[in-house]
Amino acid sequence: MKEKILVFDTTLRDGEQSPGASLNVQEKVEIARQLEKLGVDIIEAGFPASSPLQFEAVERVSAESGAVVAALSRAVEGDITSAWKALQHARKPRIHTFISTSDIHILGKFAADRYGRTLEEKRRTILKMAVDAVAFAKTLAPDIEFSAEDAGRTDPGYLAEIVEAVIAAGATTVNIPDTTGYTWPSEFGRKIADLRSRVGNIDQAVISVHCHNDLGLAVANTLSALENGARQAECSVNGIGERAGNASLEEIVMALKVRSDLHNFETGVTTEEIFKTSRMVSSFTGIIVQPNKAIVGENAFSHESGIHQDGMLKNRQTYEVMTPESVGVPKTSIVLGRHSGKHGLKARLESLGYALADGDLESVYRRFMEIADKKKEVYDDDLRFLMGDELSSPSS
Ligand code: KIV
Ligand code: ZN
Repeated sequence: MKEKILVFDTTLRDGEQSPGASLNVQEKVEIARQLEKLGVDIIEAGFPASSPLQFEAVERVSAESGAVVAALSRAVEGDITSAWKALQHARKPRIHTFISTSDIHILGKFAADRYGRTLEEKRRTILKMAVDAVAFAKTLAPDIEFSAEDAGRTDPGYLAEIVEAVIAAGATTVNIPDTTGYTWPSEFGRKIADLRSRVGNIDQAVISVHCHNDLGLAVANTLSALENGARQAECSVNGIGERAGNASLEEIVMALKVRSDLHNFETGVTTEEIFKTSRMVSSFTGIIVQPNKAIVGENAFSHESGIHQDGMLKNRQTYEVMTPESVGVPKTSIVLGRHSGKHGLKARLESLGYALADGDLESVYRRFMEIADKKKEVYDDDLRFLMGDELSSPSS
């Protein structure tokens, strides 16, 4: 029996916090519909207290979604009330409340006159605010997530104390964010294992992780946390989010699927919907997907070098660890360019309807290389032109 990993998608909340991204309400509703088709378990629809547009988006997504819909709030009653109001029509509402717990954040963000003069005083205030927020949210909804912002840099003893207290106050999910993308995979995995050993009531809540990608380690950190007891992965489509972004949904899901030999996990994601979702998010947010992005980049299933093309023509598994169809990409593309070999060229010409006699390939390849040296990619129209030219040339 496989263990289910809950996929918590934050494209509409943290993802939309990407510099340059902005989504209107209708676009958010359409992305939420697609996320549901994709099969994510939780859709974080926004941060209702932060703006009227965010409030409306959470309301609209709530009204039509069958998935759990989460709304973010700071650990203060006003935000929590606003989140709850926006979630009124959700079939499965979740209030997600957060507060910073690392010393860097506590000392840097919370003023002495309101929160205490010393670090110790401030820590006590934060602990009380976290517990009060969760207890208040629990009077409104049964499904409560608490996030310890900057948990990645939080003192382990203090983190355990807060996590135990918020679970006792009613949190059903405790999220351990690596807010600044600072941790290292084995270190972050140990952090989760350590938390489980310190917190007596940890089994009463799902452990979630939310990793940012400042050092390019968000997906690795997430996988390491799953190996150490986390059962919810927070992520976004195309990895968009604050600064360098969040852990990418498609990379986590496909890593779990392709390397199922290494663990006993499964997600509920319909992977064939990944590419369509990626393109929708890119076009609505205006954030392009880098060509070499794993799983959904333009080049993720393209092969250019002659050796690779030759291998692919013999057996796709030589250079592909998953099929493009498995993530909804129509097909592998053999890109013809200056690194391509004769086999790749011959196969493409055949697919275009040109059958070459053995003796002709050499001269066609020579002409092809002249074109390839001048261009980044040789397109089908270039080949048609080349073949027309070849056939009419007196020497051919
Ligand atoms: O990165 C972070 O810590 C967050 C929290 C609000 C969950 O986005
Ligand atoms: Zn975040």
